[in-house]
Amino acid sequence: MSSVAFTDIGSLVTNDLTLGDGELGLRSNVAIVVEHGLIAWIGEKANLPPADAKVSLADKTVIPGFVDSHAHLIFAADRSEEFSARMRGESYSAGGIKTTVTATRAASDAQLRSNTEKLVRELRRSGVTTFETKSGYALDVENETRSLKIASEFTEETTFLGAHVVAPEFANRNDDYVELVAGEMLQSAKHHAKWIDVFCDKGAFDVDQARTVLLAGVAAGLQPRIHANQIANIGAVQLAVELDCASADHLSHLSARDIDDLAASNTVATLLPGAEFSTRSNYPDAKRLFEAGATVALATDCNPGSSFTTSMPFCIAVAVREMGFSPEQALLAATQGGAAALRRSDVGALSLGMRADFVVLNAPNYIHLSYRPGVDLVDSTWVGGKNVYQR
Ligand code: NIG
Ligand code: FE
Repeated sequence: MSSVAFTDIGSLVTNDLTLGDGELGLRSNVAIVVEHGLIAWIGEKANLPPADAKVSLADKTVIPGFVDSHAHLIFAADRSEEFSARMRGESYSAGGIKTTVTATRAASDAQLRSNTEKLVRELRRSGVTTFETKSGYALDVENETRSLKIASEFTEETTFLGAHVVAPEFANRNDDYVELVAGEMLQSAKHHAKWIDVFCDKGAFDVDQARTVLLAGVAAGLQPRIHANQIANIGAVQLAVELDCASADHLSHLSARDIDDLAASNTVATLLPGAEFSTRSNYPDAKRLFEAGATVALATDCNPGSSFTTSMPFCIAVAVREMGFSPEQALLAATQGGAAALRRSDVGALSLGMRADFVVLNAPNYIHLSYRPGVDLVDSTWVGGKNVYQR
């Protein structure tokens, strides 16, 4: 079927200000026609052009699909005991990553693939239509490459994160590990990755080491993004801007200069509410980023250590309640902001000609995403006009 009309949409968020009202390009009582997987027409049902098939959405709300620009889906085993210890008072450190590394190296391809599949199914159920995923839980040449190969079965947005922490067998030889990551590991991983990322933070890699890795990645044809200042401000934002990273992520510690520099750059500020929530840390203040004019994204950071959630609606609710986002800013950050963080112009909005990636909500409007925290409002998820999740 090459064209499908989706009719009886009660409330539609387009994120296209030429198509509708307010900050979100809002329309009500409309229909959409999808042709060859793209948005071909939006308007009133009375003017509906002919289509091969019709789907009534029964007055529900339609929003652009969520773009999750930061996730770590390739790993084995969980760290619920570590979470529990943290909730009893222990603090989060980068060191916990090594627990996952041992389990990931030992897992078979089939185990890693089926773990990833489960998480991808959860993402679809939460309304995610585009997602990024990183390696970084294997930390050797063979297994980082294997992780990325498996990742690319699920998404084109794959990120080489060999510089997550120093591999256990390189303890006290950090520079040797950086050399391995920027050399042999990158040369093997680059065939399956689009992006390169570094955890630039206290207990992980310093700014000089991060620069070495990111520049090597760029020379190998990958595009840079960065984990910046989650645990402490060690100057990672300055590096992100210097290297024109597509995105600087976490930003739990930001100076006034960091905020100004992000706002003046092409680097998206990606906030990860699940990480502060699950590590009981202070939330960054998104208001200051918005006031300065930065482009802001929201992502799940789904990983077994610091944020084991696949729920974008949960992230939106926390962003609104705890980080100073308005409901409109949060929805934009989870859709268009994520697309900007992945430098994608074909997703993140429902403009004519864009990919027909959308979510149907069992709600009268998008505000319910944060107004009804913890309630599963996603009725169905559509990628390129195809149903990938139906409640
Ligand atoms: O994005 N910050 C670094 N990496 C992950 C956490 C990894 C882990 O604790 O397993 C993050 O939060
Ligand atoms: Fe992360």
